[in-house]
Amino acid sequence: MKKAAWVGTLVLALGLVYAADAGVLYARYCQVCHREDGSGTPGTFPSLGGSVRKLATFERGREYLIAVTLFGLKGMLVQGPYTYERFMPGYAPLLDDAEVAALLNWIRARFGWTRPAPAPVRPFTPEEAARMRARSLSPEQVHELLIEAEEILQTAPFRGAPPP
Ligand code: HEC
Repeated sequence: MKKAAWVGTLVLALGLVYAADAGVLYARYCQVCHREDGSGTPGTFPSLGGSVRKLATFERGREYLIAVTLFGLKGMLVQGPYTYERFMPGYAPLLDDAEVAALLNWIRARFGWTRPAPAPVRPFTPEEAARMRARSLSPEQVHELLIEAEEILQTAPFRGAPPP
């Protein structure tokens, strides 16, 4: 009993440290463009709120999010009335697999929660990040993943649950 309580406290403490670290990574690497609250700058830097939340619910979307973080992105991206056709650098040399997973979990948990809560989503894992890192894509190839993810969203519109 006593031991269980200790383990619980330890797990909680580690969880907090993990979350805090992801916040530090976000501030260091992402915030300058996507802003402190993830809202970006409409027309210049896309928002990370709604799109990350949607994309995290299905496999191709998850791959795309990990790929953007690791390899960057070049190609057309539409968010509501705004079209982006810009470039984002990749962070593969600066972030290890656990950091990529922690960062995406942190972003998903923090931003874009103004709409009703979606179905529970599996946390991103370091293993998913490692699998994507091994593919070593170009920013243009990452954009192809986005197109595939958008096609899936169109055929199975996001209504708070992962597409079948
Ligand atoms: C130098 C500015 C800059 C920084 C720093 C930056 N991004 Fe980006 N990000 C962009 C731009 C610009 C785009 C859109 C690229 C395009 O139009 O092809 C983008 C797109 C994205 C997208 C795709 C959003 C969608 O709706 O499909 C994600 C996810 C993302 N960034 C995450 C991150 C993360 C995580 C970090 C930190 C590790 C980060 N970005 C750092 C500029 C930046």
